[in-house]
Formats: sequence, C-alpha cells, structure tokens
Amino acid sequence: MEKYRFTYEDIHRTARDIARRVREGGFEPDLIVAIGSGGFIPARIIRTFLGKPILAVGIAYYDANDKPTDTPRKVQWIEEAERTLAGKRILLVDEVDDSRVTLEYCVRELLRHEPAEVAVAVLHNKDKEKRGALPQDVVRYIAGRTIPDAWIVYPWDAEDIDEHDRLAAGNPRIE
Ligand code: G4P
Ligand code: MG
Repeated sequence: MEKYRFTYEDIHRTARDIARRVREGGFEPDLIVAIGSGGFIPARIIRTFLGKPILAVGIAYYDANDKPTDTPRKVQWIEEAERTLAGKRILLVDEVDDSRVTLEYCVRELLRHEPAEVAVAVLHNKDKEKRGALPQDVVRYIAGRTIPDAWIVYPWDAEDIDEHDRLAAGNPRIE
C-alpha cells in the first residue's frame, strides 16, 4: 500500500499556503482552534502567518476504560474560554480530513457557542467517501493538499527523522 510521507518543510509550506488562501478568501479569523494532537503543529505554523491566538481541543476515540468508541469524545475542551467563542470568527485546524467525523463533531461543538463564523482548514484532505459532513454554517473549507486515500506519515510520528526525510524524497507523486 502506498504511503505519503511529508517533511516538516512540506508541512510548513502547506500551512503557509493555507494561511494565504484564508487571507485571500477574505476570511479574517479572530482565533484558531487546533484539534489535538495532529492539529497542534499545523495550527502553530498557521499562526506564524495569521498572527492569531490558538485554543486547543483534544478528541479521543477511547472511552474512560480505554475501550474503542465509534464516535469522537472530548478529552479536553475549551471550557471557560467557550464564552469567548461567541461572536468570533474561528479557524478550526486539523492535520488530516480522513473520515470527516472528527471535523463534523468539532464544528458542531463550536457552533453551540454561537461564533460569528467557522472556517475549517486541514493540511491534507483524502479524496474518498466521507462518513462525516460539515454543517452548512461552515463558511470556508480549505485543504492544503488533496491526496488519494492512502496512509500519511507525518514527521512528528517519526522516531528517526533523517530516515523519514529520506523516505519522503521517494513519496508517491501527487497529481
Ligand atoms: P477527520 O474527522 O479529521 O477526518 O479524522 P478521523 O476522525 O477520520 O481520524 C481519526 C484519527 O486518525 C485522527 O487522529 C487522525 O489524525 C488519524 N488519521 C487518519 N488518517 C491518517 C493518516 O493517513 N495518517 C495519520 N498519521 N493519521 C491519520 P487522532 O486519533 O485524533 O489522533 P492524533 O494523532 O490527532 O492525536
Ligand atoms: Mg488528528
């Protein structure tokens, strides 16, 4: 099975492109919400270009007894900061749009706090049938890159980053 490996440099460029498209599309977020843990590093790089604060949320697919669950569950949420979401323009960031279930869940949770607008940005969207759907209220959806449905290896998952970067040089070609 094909794998896509992206280097930190790839990720940085993709995050820069996302920030540019957010700006050019006329969406001016007040804050970034990062979906942990994959969304943390992309959100931080996007912040370099957009200069907005980051709030982080954690989502898990395990229940309190460490049993797998079908639906996402909050393990960490914004709590008292939730009040500050009202009336704000939020850019929700994650690394990958795979099934879309997590993204749908997070957008729905954010919408409960009556933000002015929610836009979604991911580094990579997998071109596949999605189980989740983004609510109509989402004003913009930006995928840094759209790739075929294959496993992505991110640099932060590498134990040997030099080996990872070497393998990334032989990435399957995209488009
Ligand atoms: P989605 O709604 O954003 O499409 O994500 P989905 O719930 O389908 O993804 C479930 C988990 O699987 C997420 O991680 C997601 O990051 C991870 N995932 C899906 N496809 C890939 C892939 O190709 N490569 C890698 N490395 N991860 C993938 P999570 O359980 O939330 O963990 P975390 O790593 O973000 O902490
Ligand atoms: Mg993730």
